[in-house]
Amino acid sequence: MSTAHINAKPGDFAETILMPGDPLRAKFIAENYLEDAREVTNVRGMLGFTGTYKGKPVSVMGHGMGIPSASIYFHELITVYAVKNLIRIGSCGAIHDDVKLMDLVIGMGASTDSKVNRIRMRDHDFAALADFNMVRKAVEQAEQKGLSVKVGNLFSSDLFYRPDEDLYPLMASHGILGVEMEAAALYGVAAALGAKALTICTVTDHILRHEHLDADDRRTTLNDMITLALDTALQ
Ligand code: ADE
Repeated sequence: MSTAHINAKPGDFAETILMPGDPLRAKFIAENYLEDAREVTNVRGMLGFTGTYKGKPVSVMGHGMGIPSASIYFHELITVYAVKNLIRIGSCGAIHDDVKLMDLVIGMGASTDSKVNRIRMRDHDFAALADFNMVRKAVEQAEQKGLSVKVGNLFSSDLFYRPDEDLYPLMASHGILGVEMEAAALYGVAAALGAKALTICTVTDHILRHEHLDADDRRTTLNDMITLALDTALQ
């Protein structure tokens, strides 16, 4: 059985999936990092692939931009395709002083201005958390690879273009490391449905310092994030 959003067959997805926002990035990862990768879904151009990495079955699929889009794919992958471990790989805009361009940020938790987790919890706060073992494995792998990682709180924003930019320093003063758009949804969906989840972000810009990565550095940090996510998925 397929869904309105995913036309894969049962068994087409591995238990572990890497999820970038961009479906063409999913294709790039499938073609350059997986062995024997085959396309398993393409509804609305939201491409998904399954192959192997160092002998272990792994899938990779785009989730689109923002919480509503991503939540649909997270939900259906877990409930219909029995996916158990989801690793979002994306970019974030840093806001904290301790975070610099090219760092990787592991989202131990995710704050948000979205209401999705309050809808789940009858309007109470829900601490949206990554799976502890996945965080630990990712940190161990990053240390082994000599990568600069920061671990902490992300902010999953419903707005890329915020009218209230004075919120960024307030977030930073509360220890939030960076702003992205999906981690709180991933952690909420995974918690509700009994799956494990992690978010790893490359720092592509520093919002408060008005800094941006150039194209070469983007490629390097993207490769670091993909191999970190894949080696975390192997554990
Ligand atoms: N991803 C990268 N930069 C971002 C920003 N400034 N806001 C939200 N998501 C982002």
